[in-house]
Amino acid sequence: MIFAGIVAGGSGTRIKNADKPKQFIEIGGVPVLIRTVRAFEEIGEIERIYIGINPTWYDYADKLLEEFDVSTKRVRLVTGGQDRNGTVLNILREITGIFGTNKGDILVTHDAVRPFISERIIRDNIECAQKNIACGTYIPSDDTIIRTTDSLTVSENLKRSELMRAQTPQTFEISALCECIDKLGQEKLSQLTDTCGIMTECGYPIHIVQGEPMNFKITTDHDLMIAGLMACD
Ligand code: CTP
Repeated sequence: MIFAGIVAGGSGTRIKNADKPKQFIEIGGVPVLIRTVRAFEEIGEIERIYIGINPTWYDYADKLLEEFDVSTKRVRLVTGGQDRNGTVLNILREITGIFGTNKGDILVTHDAVRPFISERIIRDNIECAQKNIACGTYIPSDDTIIRTTDSLTVSENLKRSELMRAQTPQTFEISALCECIDKLGQEKLSQLTDTCGIMTECGYPIHIVQGEPMNFKITTDHDLMIAGLMACD
């Protein structure tokens, strides 16, 4: 079975003057979260779509799903965690608690705040994880990236052709991810902030799915403005 986990448990502190976390802000009349959920609803092969929500915003999100006619047959809310990884792990626990840990089951995890994800990216992630266990979505870096240790001077110019920027989804074969989590234990897990990082720690190579510029993350007010323009069609 294939599951989606949409992580929407953050507070969006880098967006200024908003009265709610960025995933709930409307762009083109539809909240960011609803747009992201709809993209996953388009993929018929996905059994269930779990959304990780901060407990403070749980009831708000529940009402939003109802208001925008999101099907409760496939879409469920789960309590989010302290950080992004915590939210992913809560979603994983919910899935395995209900469906068990079956070989071949796949979890596609995606940031709620990347509403312009394409069907191609989702399908490529599923196919990639079915073949390779652990996959992430990446896009070449157009800008040269430098390293600095003091934010004042350049310590190192990095080779652009070897650099990519990480997007989501990150997609995993569920039984391998669960086995890896058990193996690492709570203390090690709490030091890892990224789910691909968990799998890397267990020795799994992360396979690359090509991302797209449109699949950007709404992080700042500038991103929100661009997203608003893109949503007005
Ligand atoms: N996220 C989550 N649970 C958390 C923290 C983050 O599910 N405890 C989710 C966010 O809702 C978002 C994604 O992880 O969809 C990417 O994180 P980011 O852009 O950093 O979101 P925020 O943490 O909300 O933003 P900020 O860092 O500006 O506060």
